[in-house]
Amino acid sequence: MFPRLICLILTLASATVSSTGQSVVKLEGDSVTLDLQRPAETGIKRIIWSFNLNTDIVTYYSNYKLKTEDEFKDKVYFNSRTFSLLVKNLRKSDSGIYRAEGPGGWVLAEYRLRVLEPVEAPVLTLVTYWSTGDSCHVTVNCTGGDRSLMSSCDNTSCSPEGGASTDSTLSMSVRDDIISCNHSNPFSWKSQTIEINRQCFSDIGDAVGSSAGFSPSLLKAALISVLLLIMASAVIAVHIREKQIIS
Ligand SMILES: *[C@@H]1O[C@H](CO)[C@@H](O)[C@H](O)[C@H]1NC(C)=O
Ligand SMILES: *[C@@H]1O[C@H](CO)[C@@H](O)[C@H](O)[C@H]1NC(C)=O
Ligand SMILES: *[C@@H]1O[C@H](CO)[C@@H](O)[C@H](O)[C@H]1NC(C)=O
Repeated sequence: MFPRLICLILTLASATVSSTGQSVVKLEGDSVTLDLQRPAETGIKRIIWSFNLNTDIVTYYSNYKLKTEDEFKDKVYFNSRTFSLLVKNLRKSDSGIYRAEGPGGWVLAEYRLRVLEPVEAPVLTLVTYWSTGDSCHVTVNCTGGDRSLMSSCDNTSCSPEGGASTDSTLSMSVRDDIISCNHSNPFSWKSQTIEINRQCFSDIGDAVGSSAGFSPSLLKAALISVLLLIMASAVIAVHIREKQIIS
């Protein structure tokens, strides 16, 4: 009895999951036309398009009466010949479930819309490096979107090679001693690079607009030495002047 009940619940649960509709991915600023996926019977009395299963967008009645909810007035256009819904000037917040229902809750269309922005440039930073023999190994951190990836690279490959978040993908590659991290979604990509050399020395510079810069510890060491030099000469100068005043 119980296993059967659990089975039933599981079946119901998976049915709900798979019924979230056909997936549609669009770029911010674009528009999308959502067509009926099942033909509406002729002389259909009423069609409702709704958002996220809880907010009505438009209600169409067969006597050509059309009611568009205020908050969607500038956002959608309903075609009363095909019953399709045009959603304009897409924003990230327009992502969600769009469903058309006929009389009696008969589902005529269901879409899961995802609106994506163009990707931002990833940030690629060097975490550690070491050399074995004549080859260099580095660990880098690539951050893009809501995801960051630690990857170990030598002069041939990186591991892991990439990872995906809900909206974008990071992928690592190495070519000619240049490590790159590519942040992409179906509409755009941006990549950033770090250069390494066989000795792992501070040739770690930027190519193609990288913000990685060179080794921060080296820079710090140089800055501190310059500062110490300035301080030392100031002290000596004061000393000399005091001596001159005394004598
Ligand atoms: C990687 O480095 C090794 C050791 O220096 C070298 O023998 C090999 O040719 C390099 N491979 C590539 C693809 O540069
Ligand atoms: C990579 O760097 C980002 C930003 O500094 C940091 O938030 C993240 O935790 C790092 N990722 C890993 C895997 O350490
Ligand atoms: C980055 O990834 C995208 C999508 O996979 C690809 O089209 C593009 O050529 C890649 N860019 C670089 C520099 O590898």
